[in-house]
Amino acid sequence: MLVHTIKELRELRKSWDGNLTVGIVPTMGALHEGHLSLIKKAKATCDKVVVSVFVNPIQFGPSEDFDKYPRTLEKDVELCKSAGVDVVFAPSPSEMYGGKCESAGSNESKPDAYEEGNRLSNDTLTYVCPPFFYVNKLCGKSRVGHFDGVCTVVLKLFNIVQPDFGFFGQKDAQQVIVIKKMVHDLNVPIKIIQCPIVREDSGLALSSRNKYLTEQGKQDALVLSRILNNIKACFKRGINDVSALKETAYAYLTDKYDLEYLEILDKNTLEEKEKADKDTIALIACRVEGVRLIDNIYLGEEE
Ligand code: PAF
Repeated sequence: MLVHTIKELRELRKSWDGNLTVGIVPTMGALHEGHLSLIKKAKATCDKVVVSVFVNPIQFGPSEDFDKYPRTLEKDVELCKSAGVDVVFAPSPSEMYGGKCESAGSNESKPDAYEEGNRLSNDTLTYVCPPFFYVNKLCGKSRVGHFDGVCTVVLKLFNIVQPDFGFFGQKDAQQVIVIKKMVHDLNVPIKIIQCPIVREDSGLALSSRNKYLTEQGKQDALVLSRILNNIKACFKRGINDVSALKETAYAYLTDKYDLEYLEILDKNTLEEKEKADKDTIALIACRVEGVRLIDNIYLGEEE
């Protein structure tokens, strides 16, 4: 079932037996196998599954791809139906944030609150701001305000749906850590389940943004997983010095890659370490054909 309003969603939620467990899979739509793996896990864990489809304007910076972000609601609903999802919640920006915007879909305009981009121009909305330590690095460094937008919408979705479980992909590893921290600090009664990265046979991590790449771009984008796999292979061979592990990447990086970051950090806290150990994650962000792609790998675990 597809619902667009908070009222409808709440009514449905109320109609479910209080003993049933409810899971939410928050998405921005353009669903792919990665999302479907989250839905599968949610179906296996919970009695009822809600998938939210909402391209959240407040997590995009003014010069990011909010307007061109792929919107494929009809197809997403079909995929959810086939996967046994109970409810697809697809609110409009105005439903979520108020303001003058009325329409959902690709021609949506942004409500007053964020006409000029993300929260930096905003003084009318209560935000959830995760601790600086977790967001002053990796994606949060170049996407200032991004995680404020993510946490704000995710907490709103949790409050609207009141789920017992929330399902998130490891591909956005920093996002999962930040959301777990929010849930802990704000005593949100929900268990966050992280699901593994889903990759194409080539090794490319699935992402809605892969749609922007040409065939050549997809080939070039394999550099991310190659760099990460090589770091892991070196770690397994006994190299644990983080600087030495990072240096192994440079052989792969030619002019066509615009590396944003390559970090090797504690997988739970995102703290820096000099020596990698079993609790270490390597994370990379790189632009290919101008498309910002991210990927990561746990060094101490079998994938
Ligand atoms: O990972 C995403 O798709 C988004 O950041 C999320 C969690 C749905 C919040 O808008």
